[in-house]
Amino acid sequence: MRQPLVAGNWKMNGSSDSIRELIDGILSGLETKAEVLVFPPHVYIQQVRDLLSGSPVKYGVQNASDKLSGAYTGEVSPLMAKDLGCEYVLIGHSERRSIYGETDADVAEKFCALVDNGLVPVLCVGETLEERESGATMKVVAEQINTVLRAAGSERLANFVIAYEPVWAIGTGLTASPEQAQEVHADIRALLAENDPSMADRTRILYGGSMKPDNAVELMAQTDVDGGLIGGASLVAADFKAICHAAGQ
Ligand code: PGA
Repeated sequence: MRQPLVAGNWKMNGSSDSIRELIDGILSGLETKAEVLVFPPHVYIQQVRDLLSGSPVKYGVQNASDKLSGAYTGEVSPLMAKDLGCEYVLIGHSERRSIYGETDADVAEKFCALVDNGLVPVLCVGETLEERESGATMKVVAEQINTVLRAAGSERLANFVIAYEPVWAIGTGLTASPEQAQEVHADIRALLAENDPSMADRTRILYGGSMKPDNAVELMAQTDVDGGLIGGASLVAADFKAICHAAGQ
């Protein structure tokens, strides 16, 4: 049985004051069987760690380097994330791919560095609208995943998460229909099963892309949707909690 996971991706939003308020709001009356985690901007990790102390809500970083230390100005090491108590690290978000030019190979290197240092990667994959319309969705998603599987080798695949985020649904208010999401999630699980059926069984596949309280229940009800990666709605405590609640039903 896969425990549902709901992760809030705050992106480059927030201040010390707004983050305090948001976390207070999330923690007050949060009741869910889902695992819950937030991805704040790096500079607020220490604050978030203090605010979440003693609560069941976990936290991680939105990106990390594939290097561990040295002359890499502006980068954050997996070891630093680990040092501050992060468990999960988001990698390969479409904004990192499209704005900062990260390739499948870059993402695969980060994946390996994270696993080797005791962190759990949340690997984002997804197609653009053009790719979907040309029927290339699964080709693109499979290549994004296979590049990681090849680089990781079987020994690094014990514990990771996939987030399927159709690029056309991120921050646009457009959501994949439950059927569209289920179709891709099932294909991703089948791809994992070709490598190792037990990996397919245990690996959680989250949906992301304009998930909101009013569409979360139906999306989460799909057999292969194991939770959500939430952007905009994770900045509103009540919405985020409603999604956590939907995931735990
Ligand atoms: P959104 O973002 O929920 O605002 O669409 C999701 C994401 O980018 O992870």
